[in-house]
Amino acid sequence: MPASGGMTDVVDRLEKAGTLDPVVGAVRRIVQSALSSQRAKDVLHGVWLGHPLHPSLTHLPIGAWGAAGVLDAMPGTGNAAATMIASGCVGYVPTIAAGWADWSELHEQQQRVGLVHATAGALAFTCYVASLAARAKGATLRGKAWSYAGLALVGVTGYLGGHLAFRQAAGMNHAEAVPHLFPAGWHELARLDDLPDGELSRREIDGIDLLVVRRGRHVDVLANNCSHLSAPLSEGDFLAKDGQGCVECPWHGSVFRLADGAVVHGPATAPMPRFESRVVDGSVEVMLPGAG
Ligand code: FES
Repeated sequence: MPASGGMTDVVDRLEKAGTLDPVVGAVRRIVQSALSSQRAKDVLHGVWLGHPLHPSLTHLPIGAWGAAGVLDAMPGTGNAAATMIASGCVGYVPTIAAGWADWSELHEQQQRVGLVHATAGALAFTCYVASLAARAKGATLRGKAWSYAGLALVGVTGYLGGHLAFRQAAGMNHAEAVPHLFPAGWHELARLDDLPDGELSRREIDGIDLLVVRRGRHVDVLANNCSHLSAPLSEGDFLAKDGQGCVECPWHGSVFRLADGAVVHGPATAPMPRFESRVVDGSVEVMLPGAG
């Protein structure tokens, strides 16, 4: 069945809602100034995990709040439901911190959808806090009404999160296809003398964009489109980190190590595909490791 009409059309219009941009810009400035520590940002993005942290953390509040919804439908489970709601509220705090960190480094269309996604999540959290307050005063029915309102908002948040991840490709590895598309074996890249020494340059083999960094007779080659959101790395900057040559992405500042494509700093969490290189009779040849 084609996915058109209804919710999909509403969210497609939300992507284009430029009227949200002043709010998006103000919130982005607040988030970016709050997240001034590169170390904290890397932790929240999930650089240490190898993929975004936020989707994993969402299991905590969604699971706990969903369980509370089931318990509230059963007799004599008020305390257990309240415990689940409180657990969800605690789990929400790191979840939203990781979400804002990722959101601050997205395209504007993604940020418009992400802003509504986060707002629905914050409203859900507020409903659950109100539910706990009502239960503490003995107003059980009111407490259940607040928690079911929260659960409905969790559904909206989840739908928009799915749209962000699977339709707008936020958080995806944008370099994943490269190893599947690059032809096997060694391929001539360029004459060594034609490559600028000590600078980033771009070459192409069979339609695959490559980042090339020559230093003397040593040539590092990575896929050129950033794993975060596909920026051309050849338009970024060469820099040294801990004595290792790295490239910094021109769009959101992810840093990748040239020696192995590893992520040094996010927001990217997936490494860049790296190619082996050799010089044969003055020509540089490249091959995907293990694809000979
Ligand atoms: S495209 Fe965002 S860090 Fe490279």
